[in-house]
Amino acid sequence: MRILSGIQPSGKLHLGNYFGMMKPAIELQARGQAYLFIANYHALTSVADPARLRADTWDVALDFLACGLDPEKTIFFRQSDVPEVTELTWLLSIVTPMGLLERCHSYKDKLAKGIPASAALFNYPVLMAADILAYQSHIVPVGRDQKQHVEVTRDIAVKFNNTFGEIFTIPEPSIAETVAVVPGLDGQKMSKSYGNTIELFGDPKEARQRIMRIVTDSTPLEAPKNPDACNIFALYKLLATEDEAADLAARYRAGNFGYGTAKKALADKLESTFAPLRARRQELARDPDRVEAILQHGAERARAEARRTLDAARRAVGIA
Ligand code: ADP
Ligand code: TRP
Repeated sequence: MRILSGIQPSGKLHLGNYFGMMKPAIELQARGQAYLFIANYHALTSVADPARLRADTWDVALDFLACGLDPEKTIFFRQSDVPEVTELTWLLSIVTPMGLLERCHSYKDKLAKGIPASAALFNYPVLMAADILAYQSHIVPVGRDQKQHVEVTRDIAVKFNNTFGEIFTIPEPSIAETVAVVPGLDGQKMSKSYGNTIELFGDPKEARQRIMRIVTDSTPLEAPKNPDACNIFALYKLLATEDEAADLAARYRAGNFGYGTAKKALADKLESTFAPLRARRQELARDPDRVEAILQHGAERARAEARRTLDAARRAVGIA
């Protein structure tokens, strides 16, 4: 089974990104042949700063490798290192009705926000269809917001197959309903845009200071506390083992336990979890040739597959 997903490079990762997206993406490598790519062609629809795009793309590569992505198991690459997908986008656009793209929520939301619509923004789902279909993917794990794009991909693939012959595997979206929303410092969803994040690979001292700012209620020190209503505990639970979490929960319930102590336990846990990954990330950052070689190796494997699909599609439409 082939499982494929793409991630847009979008700056410094936080705990919400880690538990909501990275960890599940890395775990795909155990479920089948996983393809994971950094969607830098897609990012061009919203970033017009070449230095930033380059830096963000590189950061995502380092982040995934440091967090345990095994480049032998997962085919890990930069989208733009497989230019075959742009040619395939053209062939797919031939069978893509305008109306299908006009109905896409993510496009409509951007228009509603007053973001000027480029042809690239409009065609974004066709490029995404090419990403998925080029590798004959079976399963596409995505967040809720991307489900419609996978449905559009299915429509395009069916229409192409009906018009020109059976070229493409019809993919299924897979939506991880089980991934809980990770709360931020203020209890809202952790998000860059709310300024309530704890970064994965930021300065550990700053992470500690930010943890001290987590909002709590005003239950007095002596009184028993409810761990399940506390943001500190929600974050601790994600990082700790079941026994460690049960232990901390018991201390909450026993009373005579302050939120300051819980914050310290969370900060220590964060540090002990990410220190080894940070060290690995620093080691990789010092060896850019090795990281580049990993991405090139992934691109070669991906490209061979994309080439096969593109050649079949070219023959099917009559240009080869
Ligand atoms: P942000 O909200 O910080 O801008 P993005 O929208 O770029 O984050 O999210 C990138 C990925 O991380 C998405 O797949 C999203 O589902 C996941 N993600 C982001 N924040 C959280 C969160 N607080 N809890 C769970 N998953 C999250
Ligand atoms: N559009 C996706 C996002 O913003 C990223 C993406 C690009 C993708 N191509 C893909 C995801 C193909 C899954 C499959 O999250």
